[in-house]
Amino acid sequence: MLSRTFVMLKPDAVQRGLMGAILTRFEQTGLKIVGMKMVWVTQELSRKHYVEHVDKPFYKGLEKFITEGPVLALAVEGLHAVETVRKIVGGTEPKAAQPGTIRGDFAHHSYEYTNAQNIAVKNLIHASGNAGDAKRELELWFKPEELHTYHTVHETHVF
Ligand code: PPS
Repeated sequence: MLSRTFVMLKPDAVQRGLMGAILTRFEQTGLKIVGMKMVWVTQELSRKHYVEHVDKPFYKGLEKFITEGPVLALAVEGLHAVETVRKIVGGTEPKAAQPGTIRGDFAHHSYEYTNAQNIAVKNLIHASGNAGDAKRELELWFKPEELHTYHTVHETHVF
């Protein structure tokens, strides 16, 4: 049950000064940040990260968005980390994301708007969709020595 997942705060989150507010949501939940670094994504890394989407019509806009400024890459650990993080992040389209989620509270972009403009949906954050994606993405973004094992006070109360 204790597992790790990959999270990326996209260029819109960094440029809007929302890194602290978003990190707080994960920390308040008791999730542990076990890796963190700022990365300016290259076309090559974008293509590897979004390998399932490179042939989709929205990929060109997605690559332009994700490479336009630095992102904050995170490795997050906790119980059911993939599901817990996805719940906190909310649905992909901010317009439809539930209030109380990161995308629902901090963004309101819609597919109707982004598809008409031929741009990527600005949804602040990426979180791995399943355990397989989490493993692949953590290996793509972090070297083993960049991931840390340590104790938090939450462990006294949670485990
Ligand atoms: S799909 O097509 O159902 O597999 O899409 P999904 O699993 O929701 O992931 C799509 C990722 O591409 C980003 N993106 C867009 N998706 C759809 N339409 C548009 N216009 C678009 N622009 C960008 C979307 O945010 C998903 O990436 P992440 O990083 O997971 O948010």
